Amino acid sequence: MEKRNELYAGKAKSVFTTDNPDRFVLVFRDDTSAFDGEKKEQLNRKGMVNNRFNAFVMEKLEAAGVPTHFDQLLSPTESLVRKLEMIPVECVVRNVSAGSLCRRLGVEEGQDLNPPTYELFLKNDELHDPMVNESLAVTFGWANQDELDEMKRLTYEVNSVLKTLFADAGMLLVDYKLEFGRCEGRIVLGDEFSPDGCRIWDRETRKKMDKDRFRQGLGDVIETYEEVGRRLGIHFDD
Ligand code: TMP
Ligand code: ASP
Repeated sequence: MEKRNELYAGKAKSVFTTDNPDRFVLVFRDDTSAFDGEKKEQLNRKGMVNNRFNAFVMEKLEAAGVPTHFDQLLSPTESLVRKLEMIPVECVVRNVSAGSLCRRLGVEEGQDLNPPTYELFLKNDELHDPMVNESLAVTFGWANQDELDEMKRLTYEVNSVLKTLFADAGMLLVDYKLEFGRCEGRIVLGDEFSPDGCRIWDRETRKKMDKDRFRQGLGDVIETYEEVGRRLGIHFDD
């Protein structure tokens, strides 16, 4: 496999074409952003930590029957993935109230949400990822109803797998965001799963162990991501 041209540079990852038209290389960079790219910093080791974290989670999900784009780790900061036609809608599940839910609805942070909530956001930084719904997604052609049904089913399936995985390691999966794409007529999980796109709290102390450490200037961002990984059994040493 030969890595070729950079196709797209996102806020934290870049996508490269390869000599195989069905495969891309994802490069996890040390760049970190928040608030739709308004706050930016380079955090040493972040690319490596998120690449390994993502590979670990994607393999767990695949083993549990969730189709993912992940193929294999290529290097400490690079992974080979299947090429997807991405759907510009972000799927968010919340098990505990935090973040924009608290700001929008005035609810207190830290409440158990039963049943877990499911929200859709349009992937558009300029518009600050506005909340949308299935009716808007169908009308504007972002996805059809069958695809939306499958995205919702898979997003909840991910919740049942990952809630247990984190709970067994003494952590709470508070919320997370997933992105899906189309591949050979199927809906497949794309993008990444790392502490950048979810909230994880220590179950006893409720210490924040995710990107809120960066957003809120709490410090020890990557050290804490590594602690989450170590508790899950991920080895970060090269
Ligand atoms: P929110 O509380 O800001 O709506 O985010 C909910 C969860 O989804 C949180 O874990 C962060 C993640 N998320 C992203 O990583 N990127 C996004 O663009 C959005 C909307 C949410
Ligand atoms: N990932 C988005 C950004 O970089 C949103 C966030 O995490 O706050 O702006």
